[in-house]
Amino acid sequence: MGGATMTDTRPVNLILLGPPGAGKGTQARMLEEKFGLIQLSTGDLLRAAVAAGTEAGKAAKAVMEAGQLVSDEIVLAILKDRMGEGDVAKGVILDGFPRTQAQAEALDALMAEAGQQIDSVISLAVDDEAMVTRVAGRFTCGDCGEGYHDSFKQTAKAGVCDKCGSTEMKRRADDNAETVRSRLEAYHAQTAPLIAYYERQGCLSEIDAMAAIKAVEADLEGIVRRALG
Ligand code: AP5
Repeated sequence: MGGATMTDTRPVNLILLGPPGAGKGTQARMLEEKFGLIQLSTGDLLRAAVAAGTEAGKAAKAVMEAGQLVSDEIVLAILKDRMGEGDVAKGVILDGFPRTQAQAEALDALMAEAGQQIDSVISLAVDDEAMVTRVAGRFTCGDCGEGYHDSFKQTAKAGVCDKCGSTEMKRRADDNAETVRSRLEAYHAQTAPLIAYYERQGCLSEIDAMAAIKAVEADLEGIVRRALG
């Protein structure tokens, strides 16, 4: 399989839905590279706002460290800013958004305004307990953002990024067992109901995200190719 990019087709917009550690970021980066779509992670946008010390970032910091959801108002403002940039016209992979009913409805309105639609919502099904191990073992390259795991996705050479050669590896402040459990609770209370929301819209697929990274990748690739028509 190869060669199909978004350059000669209409934009395809996807949502990756799943709890912390389900593999949303890992798979979104794969889809970005393979299909030329744009990964749009509200978690990354919020972490950038925290690092930049913006008003939104200051308000979000403690909420994120407690594993709770940041307010819809802040998240929607950040998302709308990002959606206003030209590159998203290629199609997006929404990673970590929407997370509440209000966010899902706001996204529907944004898509309608832009004359676009959500083509496919993919729910990554996983076991909660395994997610604590996955998230606690995660680290990323501080330069290019490539994601790794102590057990499941090691760098080829210890401490050196396979992709860009950097030795700057970092771990997230909210990646500890206690906070992951709060994030899982928030997911089940506020985000999991969106599975039924998108099922009613007829655009939901579910995949087994407990499988190995490459197997999950193959399943997702199949869904995207079908969405491309
Ligand atoms: P966010 O950054 O979105 O984090 P999250 O949803 O908790 O998800 P993660 O990034 O932890 O997991 P992932 O699914 O991307 O997994 P990954 O691919 O890294 O949100 C952080 C916080 O920001 C929230 O708690 C909230 O406060 C706030 N926020 C963000 N968006 C918001 C919104 N819309 N509304 C309100 N608040 C918001 O994989 C994890 C690890 O497992 C990696 O090491 C990877 O290598 C490994 N791995 C991946 N797949 C597999 C596999 N199949 N087998 C084995 N290992 C695997």
